[in-house]
Amino acid sequence: MKKVVAFIGSPRKDGNTATLVKEVIRGAKDAGAETTIFNLYDMNIKPCQGCFVCRKTGHCVMQDDFQNMFKHIIDADVVVFGSPVYMWQVTAQMKLLWDRLCGLFDENFKPRYDAKSLVMVYSQGNPNAQAFQTSFQTNEAVLKMLGFNVVDTILLTGGGDPNTAANNKELLLKAYEAGKAF
Ligand SMILES: Cc1cc2nc3c(=O)[nH]c(=O)nc-3n(C[C@H](O)[C@H](O)[C@H](O)COP(=O)(O)O)c2cc1C
Repeated sequence: MKKVVAFIGSPRKDGNTATLVKEVIRGAKDAGAETTIFNLYDMNIKPCQGCFVCRKTGHCVMQDDFQNMFKHIIDADVVVFGSPVYMWQVTAQMKLLWDRLCGLFDENFKPRYDAKSLVMVYSQGNPNAQAFQTSFQTNEAVLKMLGFNVVDTILLTGGGDPNTAANNKELLLKAYEAGKAF
């Protein structure tokens, strides 16, 4: 059975990002996967202190909610990161998580674990799908260094209203099918 872990990086519990991530997970469940969702705004994630212990050992020394999330990531076959675009980028809460993932690569910047599939979910207010592609490509590149291969990206545009995703049948189906493909 495939293991899928998803992270919602929006403060809106029923907003666009949450709606789309849950739809990916619904598809994954229907495909028989074991699934877990973490809402990053409910988590205590301290900022990386730059001690670099994880570069040597593969594990972060700070004992907070990150430890459980990290275990889930190591065990997962597929990871889903979902975030609204805040100031052209993922939210600070998502970035806190990503900064703590340095233990996923070794001292030579090589991933310590087998490659995992990654689905990215973004929601942005801007109606132009090209507007933040540079940021998304940067994310994809750094996450690849950590051992994540982006297999699908679900992007909601024009998402000022938190119900925009819930009313976008085409994108909901795309999200569901991304999960079902696992
Ligand atoms: C602090 C803040 C910064 C934002 N920055 C951007 C931005 O740079 N570009 C953009 O298109 N939308 C921006 N937005 C709008 C959100 O990306 C948009 O409303 C998104 O659909 C929210 O997703 P959610 O419902 O999952 O929280 C911003 C919203 C907030 C609150």
